[in-house]
Amino acid sequence: MKLFYEWIYRYARAPWDLGPRKELVEAVESGRIKPCKAIDLGCGTASNAIFLAQRGFDVRGTDYSSAAIALCQQRGAAAGVTVNWIEDDLTDLKRVHGSFDFLVDWGVYDDLTQPDRQAYLRNVLPLTHAHSRFIIYVHQWSLRWWEKSLHRLIGGMQPMQPGEVEADFSPYFAIEKLVERTFPSGYIGGEAVYLMTRKGETSK
Ligand SMILES: C[S@@+](CC[C@H](N)C(=O)[O-])C[C@H]1O[C@@H](n2cnc3c(N)ncnc32)[C@H](O)[C@@H]1O
Repeated sequence: MKLFYEWIYRYARAPWDLGPRKELVEAVESGRIKPCKAIDLGCGTASNAIFLAQRGFDVRGTDYSSAAIALCQQRGAAAGVTVNWIEDDLTDLKRVHGSFDFLVDWGVYDDLTQPDRQAYLRNVLPLTHAHSRFIIYVHQWSLRWWEKSLHRLIGGMQPMQPGEVEADFSPYFAIEKLVERTFPSGYIGGEAVYLMTRKGETSK
């Protein structure tokens, strides 16, 4: 997977290079999420991190692809914003430290294998504190019959199943589902967006 990302950021335009995501923009522009210390996990095309920096957030963007980080640096400079871009692996963080008020994940967690999702949780939870907010976008749909057969044959990654985000994150976060969409035709069967708030006693 990493080689794929290195290739696409270096030589092509990624199909997810579509600008800042609607629900993130709405949460910020409505004042629901106010400028704070934020991190874009798997910052890829830089769109979401640059959007947050333009709205006054203090932003880090991290990605394990060196080509993504180079692209982010170039785009951040062109946009005239200051973002701290950090090359690091979310399943084994070495350079990202501290805790964040707001975390963004568009398309990383759902892209990982089951063991890597557990490693991601072990690495990302320490980046949160009580009441941190976390917006996460996932591909999510019930596997179609042919996908189940294919998965039984070759294994590999799967989209999130309905209820899986709640199962994985609810021990740590209160979870609000912002959107769930299904796409009856086409390869991607659906997606969902969740806004989560870290549980805890400490007030911030
Ligand atoms: C589908 S892309 C989305 C990119 C980005 N969120 C955006 O909107 O442009 C997934 C991103 O996650 C990054 N990624 C995947 N696994 C990662 C990991 N273990 N650690 C850090 N980044 C990872 C990839 O390099 C890629 O940029």
